[in-house]
Amino acid sequence: MIDNRIRREDLKGKIVSAEEAALLIKDGMTVAASGFTPSGYPKAVPLALAKRAEAGEQIGITLLTGASVGDELDGALSRAGVIKRRFPYQTHNDTRNGINNGTIMYQDMHLSHLPQYMSYGFFGNIDVAVVEALAITEDGGIIPTTSVGISPTAVKLADKVIVEINTSQPMALEGIHDIYIPENPPYRKPIPIEKSGDRIGTTYIPCDPSKIAAIVVTDITDKVRPLGPIDEDSEAISNHIIEFLDYEVKKGRLPKNLLPLQSGVGSVANAVLGGLVKSPFTDLTCYTEVIQDSMLDLIDAGKVTIASGTSITPSTEGLVRLHKDIEKYAKYIILRPQEISNNPEVARRLGVLSMNTAIEIDMYGHVNSTNIMGSRMMNGLGGSADYTRNAYISFYTTVSTAKNGDISSIVPMVSHVDHTEHDVMVVVTERGLADLRGTAPVERARLIIDKCAHPDYQPMLNDYFERALKTKTKHEPHLIGEALSWHQRFLDTGSMKLK
Ligand code: COA
Repeated sequence: MIDNRIRREDLKGKIVSAEEAALLIKDGMTVAASGFTPSGYPKAVPLALAKRAEAGEQIGITLLTGASVGDELDGALSRAGVIKRRFPYQTHNDTRNGINNGTIMYQDMHLSHLPQYMSYGFFGNIDVAVVEALAITEDGGIIPTTSVGISPTAVKLADKVIVEINTSQPMALEGIHDIYIPENPPYRKPIPIEKSGDRIGTTYIPCDPSKIAAIVVTDITDKVRPLGPIDEDSEAISNHIIEFLDYEVKKGRLPKNLLPLQSGVGSVANAVLGGLVKSPFTDLTCYTEVIQDSMLDLIDAGKVTIASGTSITPSTEGLVRLHKDIEKYAKYIILRPQEISNNPEVARRLGVLSMNTAIEIDMYGHVNSTNIMGSRMMNGLGGSADYTRNAYISFYTTVSTAKNGDISSIVPMVSHVDHTEHDVMVVVTERGLADLRGTAPVERARLIIDKCAHPDYQPMLNDYFERALKTKTKHEPHLIGEALSWHQRFLDTGSMKLK
């Protein structure tokens, strides 16, 4: 079994316990790990590292990953106080709490930027890379598991590489990866992807075998998250989008099989893509970041010809399904480094249809995806803006109210901006869809209030807008002292509604 997983004799001598491997990580180091939206991240080594800190050793690190990772990495190391600095995205409660209480320094950044930031040294030297792998090839090449993320750059830059061979990951994953690392400017070449399914690299991460300092064999499975059931609101959002896409095809602005789809994380995003299973569209392609359960549904329904992403992120049930039929699904999936899956140049060329989720959206089309009430970090913007800015059509979805109706997700002014009015093209809630393309701000406001806001808040939004229109500036009118008063009212009274 291990011969198939470690295909170089000299590397077998590097097999050590997780505790021994973790000793390579020391206080003050920058550690770059595999993993993306909790899949394909190292587990045994971080757990051993957390134990050292819990036993009283002073150890603090900067942790870089592709995106969010599971409890064994973000959770265990946050609780043990090991993570001092964290980039670029997370979804773990303990990490989130550390960020919001100021014990963890965090920069929320575009995922496509991270490998470039690493290679220019903005996080300092990359001391250790810890990478989950399916196997190591005869040449020392590292075959990733269910995500690629930043692993190629981490392996390239790190002084030492720790490989976690995870025997719970099926060997049928071999061959689905496409590893291509762009040069830095001025040597960077155009990325030769013209279709979602184009392969341009190797099926393994090239690695000088002498850099592999330790190999740990483990079978701890990814702690994937359950997905919420598809509720009425998500279904309504999905139906609005499908109706709109149908209209665009009829108008001749989209081909019959659409353009490559990108869909964000979470239950609503999963439901939107899931809605396509029952739609008339066929021969769909995806150029996205995460491949969720609904993609498996689309593959099963024979609707998708290729799904390109950087990670497979199934739910708990989805993981069982994936493993059961991995040979079939692997034929439809390509996993790329996040610098390529999220590459703005490629997204613009392919004409991606991007669909991401907002926390709140304002009447002029600015979107907040990250900071609750303007300052409590939720997750991060992830790759959403990599696509939004460069999509052929960018969609933002949200349910029109939150917290049992005490919050309107459509507000006069968002309390934090991740995506601007210049990039957001279509806004969708369960109430309806506002196509903002070719509209001026005041036209956008009318559309968003009429089509997307909840009826409980429409009179308040109209009242604000009409009074703002009476001020001197007519282009994007605001009552600046009142623009964020809805958020203040929620903080003071527990509701945005007027008593
Ligand atoms: N104001 C305040 N809180 C709000 C809110 C609003 N307008 N809208 C939602 N919330 C709260 C919810 O009540 C919930 O709180 P809870 O955790 O205390 O229950 C929380 O925000 C998450 O809302 P939920 O409806 O469960 O959202 P989701 O799972 O669909 O996630 C995002 C929504 C925006 C947080 C998530 O999509 C995200 O992190 N996006 C940014 C990253 C991204 O787009 N990645 C994909 C790129 S490829």
